[in-house]
Amino acid sequence: MIETKDDFNLLKRYIEQTLKIQCSNYKEDYIKRRLLSRMRSTSQATYSDYLFYLKGHPAELEPLRNALTINVTEFFRDTEVYNEIRNTLLPELFRQRKRIQIWSAGCSSGEEPYSLAMILSDMMMTNKEIAAQIIATDIDEVILARAKSGIYPDKSVQKLTDVQLRRHFTKLPDGNFEVKQHLRDLIRFRPHDLMSGIPPSRFVDMITCRNVTIYFNEKQKDDLARMFHAALIPGGFYVMGKTEYLGREVESLFTPFNSLQKIFIKKQ
Ligand SMILES: C[S@@+](CC[C@H](N)C(=O)[O-])C[C@H]1O[C@@H](n2cnc3c(N)ncnc32)[C@H](O)[C@@H]1O
Repeated sequence: MIETKDDFNLLKRYIEQTLKIQCSNYKEDYIKRRLLSRMRSTSQATYSDYLFYLKGHPAELEPLRNALTINVTEFFRDTEVYNEIRNTLLPELFRQRKRIQIWSAGCSSGEEPYSLAMILSDMMMTNKEIAAQIIATDIDEVILARAKSGIYPDKSVQKLTDVQLRRHFTKLPDGNFEVKQHLRDLIRFRPHDLMSGIPPSRFVDMITCRNVTIYFNEKQKDDLARMFHAALIPGGFYVMGKTEYLGREVESLFTPFNSLQKIFIKKQ
Protein backbone atom coordinates (compact mmCIF):
# COMPACT_ATOMS: atom_id res chain seq x y z
CA MET A 1 0.00 0.00 0.00
CA ILE A 2 1.27 3.51 -0.81
CA GLU A 3 1.93 5.67 2.21
CA THR A 4 1.07 9.35 1.81
CA LYS A 5 2.01 12.45 3.73
CA ASP A 6 -1.70 12.83 4.53
CA ASP A 7 -1.77 9.45 6.32
CA PHE A 8 1.12 10.56 8.51
CA ASN A 9 -0.52 13.92 9.19
CA LEU A 10 -3.83 12.29 10.14
CA LEU A 11 -2.06 10.01 12.61
CA LYS A 12 -0.08 12.96 14.01
CA ARG A 13 -3.27 14.98 14.50
CA TYR A 14 -4.96 12.08 16.29
CA ILE A 15 -1.96 11.70 18.62
CA GLU A 16 -1.90 15.42 19.36
CA GLN A 17 -5.60 15.37 20.23
CA THR A 18 -5.67 12.21 22.33
CA LEU A 19 -2.25 12.21 24.01
CA LYS A 20 -1.82 16.01 24.08
CA ILE A 21 1.73 15.56 22.83
CA GLN A 22 2.77 18.28 20.41
CA CYS A 23 4.43 16.23 17.67
CA SER A 24 5.52 19.44 15.95
CA ASN A 25 7.90 20.06 18.89
CA TYR A 26 9.94 17.11 17.64
CA LYS A 27 11.82 16.45 14.44
CA GLU A 28 9.59 14.61 11.99
CA ASP A 29 12.23 11.94 11.60
CA TYR A 30 12.20 11.26 15.36
CA ILE A 31 8.40 10.90 15.44
CA LYS A 32 8.50 8.56 12.45
CA ARG A 33 11.17 6.35 14.04
CA ARG A 34 9.15 6.05 17.26
CA LEU A 35 5.92 5.35 15.36
CA LEU A 36 7.61 2.69 13.27
CA SER A 37 8.76 0.90 16.40
CA ARG A 38 5.16 0.81 17.73
CA MET A 39 3.87 -0.21 14.29
CA ARG A 40 6.30 -3.12 14.25
CA SER A 41 5.28 -4.17 17.78
CA THR A 42 1.60 -4.16 16.84
CA SER A 43 2.12 -5.64 13.34
CA GLN A 44 0.66 -2.66 11.51
CA ALA A 45 2.10 -2.03 8.06
CA THR A 46 1.16 1.60 7.39
CA TYR A 47 0.37 4.83 9.25
CA SER A 48 -3.30 4.50 8.35
CA ASP A 49 -3.37 0.85 9.55
CA TYR A 50 -1.81 1.97 12.80
CA LEU A 51 -4.31 4.84 13.19
CA PHE A 52 -7.17 2.37 12.69
CA TYR A 53 -5.58 0.01 15.22
CA LEU A 54 -5.04 2.82 17.74
CA LYS A 55 -8.69 3.86 17.56
CA GLY A 56 -9.80 0.29 18.24
CA HIS A 57 -7.20 -0.45 20.97
CA PRO A 58 -7.08 2.33 23.59
CA ALA A 59 -4.56 0.23 25.58
CA GLU A 60 -2.02 1.02 22.86
CA LEU A 61 -2.10 4.72 23.84
CA GLU A 62 0.18 4.25 26.88
CA PRO A 63 3.02 2.36 25.12
CA LEU A 64 2.76 4.91 22.32
CA ARG A 65 3.06 7.77 24.80
CA ASN A 66 6.11 6.08 26.32
CA ALA A 67 7.69 5.53 22.93
CA LEU A 68 7.23 9.19 22.07
CA THR A 69 8.41 10.67 25.35
CA ILE A 70 11.27 8.40 26.29
CA ASN A 71 13.77 11.13 27.29
CA VAL A 72 11.27 13.90 27.85
CA THR A 73 11.93 15.96 30.95
CA GLU A 74 11.82 19.56 32.12
CA PHE A 75 13.05 21.82 34.89
CA PHE A 76 10.87 21.56 38.00
CA ARG A 77 8.62 18.97 36.35
CA ASP A 78 5.48 18.89 38.55
CA THR A 79 5.90 22.11 40.52
CA GLU A 80 4.05 20.80 43.61
CA VAL A 81 6.55 17.95 44.03
CA TYR A 82 9.46 20.38 43.97
CA ASN A 83 7.64 22.68 46.43
CA GLU A 84 7.34 19.72 48.78
CA ILE A 85 11.03 18.89 48.32
CA ARG A 86 12.01 22.51 48.96
CA ASN A 87 9.65 23.24 51.86
CA THR A 88 9.43 19.91 53.69
CA LEU A 89 11.82 17.13 52.61
CA LEU A 90 15.13 19.02 52.48
CA PRO A 91 14.54 21.05 55.68
CA GLU A 92 13.66 17.76 57.42
CA LEU A 93 16.82 16.04 56.14
CA PHE A 94 19.03 19.01 57.08
CA ARG A 95 17.48 18.99 60.57
CA GLN A 96 18.86 15.46 60.95
CA ARG A 97 22.30 16.02 59.43
CA LYS A 98 24.34 18.79 57.83
CA ARG A 99 25.56 16.87 54.80
CA ILE A 100 23.18 14.93 52.56
CA GLN A 101 23.38 12.80 49.44
CA ILE A 102 20.68 12.72 46.75
CA TRP A 103 20.35 10.29 43.85
CA SER A 104 18.56 11.48 40.73
CA ALA A 105 17.98 8.13 39.00
CA GLY A 106 17.06 8.24 35.30
CA CYS A 107 18.04 11.92 35.07
CA SER A 108 17.76 12.17 31.26
CA SER A 109 19.21 15.47 29.98
CA GLY A 110 19.79 16.83 33.49
CA GLU A 111 16.85 19.13 34.17
CA GLU A 112 15.88 17.09 37.27
CA PRO A 113 19.29 17.17 39.05
CA TYR A 114 19.88 20.81 38.08
CA SER A 115 16.44 21.72 39.50
CA LEU A 116 17.41 20.01 42.76
CA ALA A 117 20.80 21.77 42.65
CA MET A 118 19.08 25.16 42.28
CA ILE A 119 16.98 24.51 45.40
CA LEU A 120 20.02 23.28 47.34
CA SER A 121 22.21 26.14 46.22
CA ASP A 122 19.58 28.68 47.35
CA MET A 123 19.35 26.95 50.74
CA MET A 124 23.13 26.84 51.07
CA MET A 125 23.35 30.59 50.44
CA THR A 126 21.40 31.29 53.62
CA ASN A 127 22.82 28.40 55.65
CA LYS A 128 26.58 28.00 55.30
CA GLU A 129 26.68 24.91 57.52
CA ILE A 130 24.86 22.58 55.14
CA ALA A 131 26.31 20.64 52.20
CA ALA A 132 24.88 18.30 49.58
CA GLN A 133 25.90 16.10 46.72
CA ILE A 134 23.70 14.82 43.90
CA ILE A 135 24.52 11.62 42.02
CA ALA A 136 22.73 11.84 38.68
CA THR A 137 22.53 8.64 36.63
CA ASP A 138 21.02 7.42 33.39
CA ILE A 139 21.48 4.36 31.19
CA ASP A 140 21.58 6.48 28.03
CA GLU A 141 25.12 7.84 27.68
CA VAL A 142 24.16 10.16 24.81
CA ILE A 143 21.54 11.91 26.92
CA LEU A 144 23.92 11.90 29.90
CA ALA A 145 26.55 13.75 27.82
CA ARG A 146 23.92 16.38 27.08
CA ALA A 147 23.15 16.60 30.80
CA LYS A 148 26.84 17.07 31.59
CA SER A 149 27.17 19.84 29.01
CA GLY A 150 24.57 21.80 30.99
CA ILE A 151 23.52 23.83 27.96
CA TYR A 152 19.83 24.38 27.26
CA PRO A 153 17.89 26.16 24.55
CA ASP A 154 15.76 29.16 25.37
CA LYS A 155 12.52 27.13 25.30
CA SER A 156 13.76 24.71 28.00
CA VAL A 157 14.32 27.48 30.53
CA GLN A 158 11.07 29.35 29.94
CA LYS A 159 9.46 28.06 33.14
CA LEU A 160 12.32 29.38 35.28
CA THR A 161 11.98 32.73 37.04
CA ASP A 162 14.21 35.69 36.14
CA VAL A 163 15.93 35.31 39.50
CA GLN A 164 16.68 31.62 38.88
CA LEU A 165 17.98 32.38 35.40
CA ARG A 166 20.25 35.20 36.58
CA ARG A 167 21.52 33.30 39.61
CA HIS A 168 22.12 29.91 38.06
CA PHE A 169 22.62 30.36 34.28
CA THR A 170 24.80 32.29 31.86
CA LYS A 171 23.26 33.39 28.57
CA LEU A 172 25.56 32.36 25.73
CA PRO A 173 26.12 34.45 22.57
CA ASP A 174 24.11 31.90 20.54
CA GLY A 175 21.04 32.44 22.76
CA ASN A 176 21.37 29.17 24.73
CA PHE A 177 21.70 29.07 28.51
CA GLU A 178 24.52 27.35 30.37
CA VAL A 179 24.31 26.26 34.03
CA LYS A 180 26.83 28.00 36.28
CA GLN A 181 29.72 26.23 37.93
CA HIS A 182 28.18 26.30 41.44
CA LEU A 183 25.38 24.00 40.19
CA ARG A 184 27.81 21.70 38.38
CA ASP A 185 29.86 21.40 41.58
CA LEU A 186 26.87 19.81 43.34
CA ILE A 187 26.33 17.05 40.76
CA ARG A 188 28.24 13.96 39.66
CA PHE A 189 26.84 12.46 36.45
CA ARG A 190 27.38 8.72 35.92
CA PRO A 191 26.10 6.03 33.58
CA HIS A 192 24.09 3.47 35.52
CA ASP A 193 21.53 0.80 34.66
CA LEU A 194 18.68 0.72 37.16
CA MET A 195 18.19 -2.94 36.35
CA SER A 196 21.71 -3.81 37.48
CA GLY A 197 20.52 -4.27 41.07
CA ILE A 198 23.55 -2.38 42.42
CA PRO A 199 23.03 1.19 43.62
CA PRO A 200 25.82 3.76 43.10
CA SER A 201 25.77 4.45 46.87
CA ARG A 202 24.22 2.94 49.99
CA PHE A 203 24.07 6.16 51.98
CA VAL A 204 21.43 8.08 50.10
CA ASP A 205 19.11 10.49 51.91
CA MET A 206 16.72 11.05 49.02
CA ILE A 207 16.11 9.30 45.71
CA THR A 208 14.20 10.93 42.90
CA CYS A 209 13.30 8.34 40.29
CA ARG A 210 10.53 9.90 38.31
CA ASN A 211 8.87 8.84 35.07
CA VAL A 212 11.31 5.98 34.55
CA THR A 213 9.46 2.86 35.74
CA ILE A 214 6.74 3.37 33.14
CA TYR A 215 9.05 1.35 30.87
CA PHE A 216 9.51 -1.48 33.41
CA ASN A 217 7.46 -4.63 34.02
CA GLU A 218 6.09 -5.47 37.50
CA LYS A 219 9.07 -7.60 38.54
CA GLN A 220 11.56 -4.99 37.39
CA LYS A 221 9.62 -2.32 39.31
CA ASP A 222 9.67 -4.44 42.50
CA ASP A 223 13.40 -5.17 42.13
CA LEU A 224 14.02 -1.45 41.66
CA ALA A 225 12.08 -0.58 44.83
CA ARG A 226 14.16 -3.17 46.74
CA MET A 227 17.37 -1.65 45.40
CA PHE A 228 16.20 1.84 46.41
CA HIS A 229 15.35 0.49 49.87
CA ALA A 230 18.94 -0.84 50.14
CA ALA A 231 20.42 2.46 48.91
CA LEU A 232 18.47 4.72 51.27
CA ILE A 233 19.46 5.39 54.86
CA PRO A 234 16.64 4.68 57.37
CA GLY A 235 14.10 7.50 57.11
CA GLY A 236 15.34 8.45 53.60
CA PHE A 237 12.85 9.66 50.99
CA TYR A 238 11.85 8.01 47.71
CA VAL A 239 10.18 10.42 45.28
CA MET A 240 8.35 8.74 42.38
CA GLY A 241 6.66 10.13 39.28
CA LYS A 242 3.03 11.20 39.56
CA THR A 243 1.71 8.23 37.55
CA GLU A 244 3.98 5.62 39.16
CA TYR A 245 3.14 3.33 42.08
CA LEU A 246 4.72 0.85 44.51
CA GLY A 247 3.83 -2.79 43.81
CA ARG A 248 2.09 -4.92 46.50
CA GLU A 249 5.21 -7.01 47.06
CA VAL A 250 7.29 -4.00 48.08
CA GLU A 251 4.88 -1.49 49.56
CA SER A 252 5.65 -2.76 53.08
CA LEU A 253 9.25 -1.50 52.67
CA PHE A 254 8.11 2.13 52.64
CA THR A 255 5.68 4.37 54.53
CA PRO A 256 3.70 6.89 52.50
CA PHE A 257 4.83 10.43 53.35
CA ASN A 258 2.78 12.37 50.80
CA SER A 259 0.60 10.00 48.80
CA LEU A 260 -0.61 12.68 46.39
CA GLN A 261 2.92 13.64 45.37
CA LYS A 262 4.07 9.97 45.47
CA ILE A 263 6.69 10.50 48.19
CA PHE A 264 7.63 7.59 50.47
CA ILE A 265 9.94 7.07 53.44
CA LYS A 266 12.12 4.00 53.90
CA LYS A 267 10.88 1.99 56.87
CA GLN A 268 13.39 1.54 59.67
C1 LIG B 1 11.15 10.25 30.74
S1 LIG B 1 12.82 10.34 31.27
C2 LIG B 1 12.60 10.93 32.93
C3 LIG B 1 13.52 12.07 33.27
C4 LIG B 1 13.30 12.69 34.65
N1 LIG B 1 13.48 11.72 35.70
C5 LIG B 1 11.93 13.32 34.74
O1 LIG B 1 11.06 12.83 35.47
O2 LIG B 1 11.70 14.34 34.08
C6 LIG B 1 13.23 8.62 31.54
C7 LIG B 1 14.73 8.37 31.61
O3 LIG B 1 14.92 7.06 32.16
C8 LIG B 1 16.07 6.51 31.56
N2 LIG B 1 16.07 5.05 31.73
C9 LIG B 1 15.26 4.14 31.14
N3 LIG B 1 15.60 2.89 31.52
C10 LIG B 1 16.66 3.03 32.38
C11 LIG B 1 17.46 2.10 33.10
N4 LIG B 1 17.26 0.78 33.02
N5 LIG B 1 18.45 2.58 33.88
C12 LIG B 1 18.68 3.90 33.97
N6 LIG B 1 17.95 4.83 33.31
C13 LIG B 1 16.95 4.40 32.52
C14 LIG B 1 15.93 6.94 30.10
O4 LIG B 1 17.19 6.87 29.44
C15 LIG B 1 15.39 8.37 30.25
O5 LIG B 1 16.42 9.32 30.19
